[in-house]
Amino acid sequence: MSNSLSKSLPVSWSPDSWRKKNVKQQPAYLDQEHLDETLGRLAKLPPLVTSWEIESLKSQLAQAARGEAFLLQGGDCSESLDDCDSDSIVRNLKVIMQMSFVLIYGSMKKVIRVGRIAGQYAKPRSNDTETRDGVTLPVYRGDIVNRSGFTESDRAADPELLLRGYERAALTLNFIRGLSVGGFADMHHPENWNIEFASDSPRAQQYQDMINSIANSLSFMEAVMDSSLKQSKTVEFFTSHEGLHLNYEQAQTRRVPRREGWYNMSTHFPWIGYRTREVDGAHVEYFKGIENPIGIKVGPKFPPEEVLELVKTLNPENEEGRITLICRFGAEEVANCLPPLIEAVQNSEHEVLFCSDPMHGNTFSTSTGIKTRSFDKIASELEQSFEIHKKAGSILGGAHLELTGDNVTECIGGAGKISEPDLERAYKSQVDPRLNYDQAMELAFMIADNMKATK
Ligand code: PEP
Ligand code: CO
Repeated sequence: MSNSLSKSLPVSWSPDSWRKKNVKQQPAYLDQEHLDETLGRLAKLPPLVTSWEIESLKSQLAQAARGEAFLLQGGDCSESLDDCDSDSIVRNLKVIMQMSFVLIYGSMKKVIRVGRIAGQYAKPRSNDTETRDGVTLPVYRGDIVNRSGFTESDRAADPELLLRGYERAALTLNFIRGLSVGGFADMHHPENWNIEFASDSPRAQQYQDMINSIANSLSFMEAVMDSSLKQSKTVEFFTSHEGLHLNYEQAQTRRVPRREGWYNMSTHFPWIGYRTREVDGAHVEYFKGIENPIGIKVGPKFPPEEVLELVKTLNPENEEGRITLICRFGAEEVANCLPPLIEAVQNSEHEVLFCSDPMHGNTFSTSTGIKTRSFDKIASELEQSFEIHKKAGSILGGAHLELTGDNVTECIGGAGKISEPDLERAYKSQVDPRLNYDQAMELAFMIADNMKATK
C-alpha cells in the first residue's frame, strides 16, 4: 500500500503493519477463514465517524491542554450488546450532559463531552483463561469477542460478534446524533434536565438553582438580542473506546478524500490501554499511523522516561491535541507518580493534555470477592491531581470516569452511603465497577469546585 499522501509516516507503515510486531491481548479465533471473511465485510461497511469531527475534537483537546476547555470522558467500563437500548443510551447521555453543565456553570469553561460509548466492547484481561470448579475456559474478553457465560461455546471467540459490535455502535451513535441536535439537549426546556438525585442529597438544591439560573440567563440573552439562541438547542458529543482489538480497528482505518493520512473511522478518540503500551509493540505500531487524537493510559509502573519516549514516537511533530495522558495512578500513588511525570513533560516541551482517570488505580475486592471502588478514594485522587498540577504550574484538563446513569450499586460511598453489603443489590457491570447517577453528579460538583479553586 502506498503512503505517498501520509505526513511523516515511515514508508513501512500501513494499517496492517502491526501484524509484524509482538501483539498482546488478542483473542484466538479457531476459524481463520471465517475471521478473514468477516473482516472483509467490516472493511466495506461505512465509517461511523467523519474526519472533520475527528479533526475538530483534536483542536478542542488542544484547547483543553492550554486550559481553555475541560475534557469530560465517561461511560461504561465495557458496553454490552444487550444494553444497546434507548433507555440505557438516554440515561448515560443524560448523566454526562448534566455533569457537563455542572462543570461549565462552575468553571465558565467549555466542556468537551466524550463517551466511552459506541464501540467500547473489547476488554484487556490479566489472564488468558478462567478456571471454575476445575473447568478451564478462555477468559471473557468483551462482547465483541465472546460471551460472558461459562460454557465452551460462550467463550469461543466468534468473528460474527465483530459485526454485531459494529452494528450496535452504529445504532448507538445514530441515536446519540439524533438526541444531540433535537429537543433532548435544548436548554430552553429545563424539564429535560430534571435531576433524579435522592431528594436528601445535599447537591439536589444546588443543581436545581443552577438549572433555573441557566434558563433565566437564556431568556435574558434572547430578550436583549431579540432572537432565539439556536446554538443552545444542540450539543456536541464525541465517542471513544480502547483501541484494543486490532483486527477491528484496522478494518475501519481509511483514507478520506482531500486529507492526508489515515483515519480510524470507528471512533473519534481511541486510547491505548495500560496493558498494551510497549513502544515497539503492535498496538503502538498501529496508533503511530492514524490521525485521530490518541489517549495513553499511564499508571505507576510506567516510568516518565518511557511515557515521553512513547509520546515522541506517537507525535514526532508535536501536533497540538494529538496526545492525552490519562493518568490512573490510584489515590495512594498519585502524589509519588504524578509530579515526576509533569516535570518530564515540562522539560520535554511536548504538548500533552493531562487527564485524570481516578477509577483504574483504585479498584479492590471486598472480603466476599466483589470488585469495587470507594467514592472517597476516587474523589481523593482527583483532588490531589488538581493540586499537584497547580503546584507544578501545569494544568489538569480532563477527567476520565467509569459511570452509568442507572442507580447501580457498584462503587461504595458517596452521599447515598453505599456500603459493602449494598453491592449485591444492583451490581450489573461485567467488568469494572461504575459510579451510579448520584455518585457521578456528586463528583461533577466536586470537580467544578476544584476547577474554580485552581483557576
Ligand atoms: C479501562 O479503561 O477499562 C481499562 C482497562 O483501563 P487501564 O488500561 O487503565 O487498566
Ligand atoms: Co475499566
